[in-house]
Amino acid sequence: MAELTVGDLVVDYGPVRALRGVSMRVPSGSIVAVLGANGAGKSTLLRAVSGTLRFHRGRVARGEIALDGTRIDELAAAAVVRRGVTQVPEGRRVFARMTVEENLRAGGLGTPRRAAARARERVHELFPVLAERARQRAGLLSGGEQQMLAIGRALMAEPSVLLLDEPTLGLAPQMAARIAGTIKAINAAGTSVLLVEQNVAMALALASHAYVLEVGSVALEGPAATLADSDEVRRRYLGVSDESPGLEARAGLSRWSA
Ligand SMILES: Nc1ncnc2c1ncn2[C@@H]1O[C@H](COP(=O)(O)OP(=O)(O)O)[C@@H](O)[C@H]1O
Ligand SMILES: [Mg+2]
Repeated sequence: MAELTVGDLVVDYGPVRALRGVSMRVPSGSIVAVLGANGAGKSTLLRAVSGTLRFHRGRVARGEIALDGTRIDELAAAAVVRRGVTQVPEGRRVFARMTVEENLRAGGLGTPRRAAARARERVHELFPVLAERARQRAGLLSGGEQQMLAIGRALMAEPSVLLLDEPTLGLAPQMAARIAGTIKAINAAGTSVLLVEQNVAMALALASHAYVLEVGSVALEGPAATLADSDEVRRRYLGVSDESPGLEARAGLSRWSA
């Protein structure tokens, strides 16, 4: 469990400024949600934290990223993983031609053998299907199973902070609900979570605090419950019109808060 802080983060892709001074805090042991439309900068934020942006060409991010007060923004991606921050990328990105087991092993590279064995056991407990299909090619799994594998792979390094980029994207509601339950369980076992989601109702039900990104800036932030009740959030992100009393949103929220 650890606290992640981001201070005044600026990221440019050439002439495109994707993040314009973003600051946020993921308190130790919490789930924090990041919401926002396509192109708002959500994935860029996670990739800056995980160090995967810097592979492109030198250092593209400015600002401060710290874990329990210690800067990690100068570290290469592998070193960020060793510090205990792992990422589940958007679109799952499992290694399709490798087996399920090999995918998990890839996530445990750089983790001491005994810790990796312990992590694998835990992943198999969370997702029994990954044990059953250990020798199958990952590309043959369903979308939901691939998402489980992507999460399992990220858990192999026993992270203290887990970054999740749209984990329920494209999944049927039932599978999305399972993933949501798993995120809750992972957090309850002591991992802080930074959750990027387009499923706003689900994210606000899981998170204690949320940030809304708009074209690279934090447009809104607050306790998740407050945002869930905010007219602006309901109108813009939960598909509730001005005239309607917000019943749809309430129904959506209650479905996820069990
Ligand atoms: N590799 C890249 N090169 C150039 N521009 C990019 C790249 N990745 C993202 N962008 C741009 O940065 C902005 C933020 O993108 P992204 O972080 O992927 O947003 P989100 O995840 O919220 O959809 C968008 O304008 C997008 O077009
Ligand atoms: Mg994205």
